[in-house]
Amino acid sequence: MATTEAEATVEIQSGDPNEAGYRPFQLGEFKFRRDDYFVYIEWPTGSHVMSADAFLKALQRDVAWDFFYGIVNFDGVIGTVNHYGTVDLFAGRYNDGYRKAELDHLENMPTPAIRETFKAMLDDWTNETFDPFASPDETGSAFGPKNGDNRKAITRHRVAAARMVGVKGDEQIRSDDSGFPVNRHFSDVPQDEPEIRAEAGFEDELASFNLFAYLSRSDVTWNPSVVSVCKDSLFCPTTEEYILPIIHGNDRVEWFLQLSDEIYWDVEDRDSGQIRSKVVMKPGDVAAMPADIRHQGYAPKRSMLLVWENAAGDLPELISSGKLPTYPVEL
Ligand code: PHB
Ligand code: FE
Repeated sequence: MATTEAEATVEIQSGDPNEAGYRPFQLGEFKFRRDDYFVYIEWPTGSHVMSADAFLKALQRDVAWDFFYGIVNFDGVIGTVNHYGTVDLFAGRYNDGYRKAELDHLENMPTPAIRETFKAMLDDWTNETFDPFASPDETGSAFGPKNGDNRKAITRHRVAAARMVGVKGDEQIRSDDSGFPVNRHFSDVPQDEPEIRAEAGFEDELASFNLFAYLSRSDVTWNPSVVSVCKDSLFCPTTEEYILPIIHGNDRVEWFLQLSDEIYWDVEDRDSGQIRSKVVMKPGDVAAMPADIRHQGYAPKRSMLLVWENAAGDLPELISSGKLPTYPVEL
């Protein structure tokens, strides 16, 4: 993303490195610091501790997705709400226990302020051994005192096509010489590309690609890319392994198509965190996640998932005002 004037003027509130070598950060009345193992978050009415690896994996997604759709819960306590121009940073806001005890706290801030601070925190707190996008089996440790950085890993963005992968201008197909080898769990995925026989004059208009081959070369987990765009309809396939590092609270309906292997989903009430259902998705299964839930997925083996998003800007308001239901179809 290009640096805008607003971003250029953001002042990041940070202090000197502690004994472990990590800088503290502040956003409004929220204070963040890390040591060898943990991240500590304080706000006027409470405090919270998270494992450093879990925190960095969640922070990485929030930064790379520019706060995503709706709510990104880092865990049951800390997270962000995207208002598309401003962002709420909250503690305990979507947690019944914190709410009842009045320990929750929320601050709304301009997107550039939180974006730039989160980027600086991610940069300072990620050691050279750790890739927050990688599966646990494919990265080194997040722990210990400060040890270099991993800018190459943490500055990856969502790969996004403007039309469809393979269409002129969106040539993102990955081959052996692209530097993206087939993942160890996808060695059985055929790599042949479809054959196109275009009518003369339409050679530049017609495109196709092998989505499974494309996904088999993904070096990241739980990071949807956009492979096709048709008006507001976005196909965002992704490869998943281990646990989705955030609990996503949606502001719109989201469809899941399980393309390979299995994912278990914990589905909870978006606002209270009360459990609503457990979903097991096997290859070929399709699920619509309602707009009033939050969910977290578990993939025992690297799996391919197609997330189908409706990017229409008016959806959050239509749904929260009750003009549209929280579910997609009447059965
Ligand atoms: C989701 O919250 O719906 C989500 C996020 C990232 C993924 C898959 C699903 O990789
Ligand atoms: Fe989601």
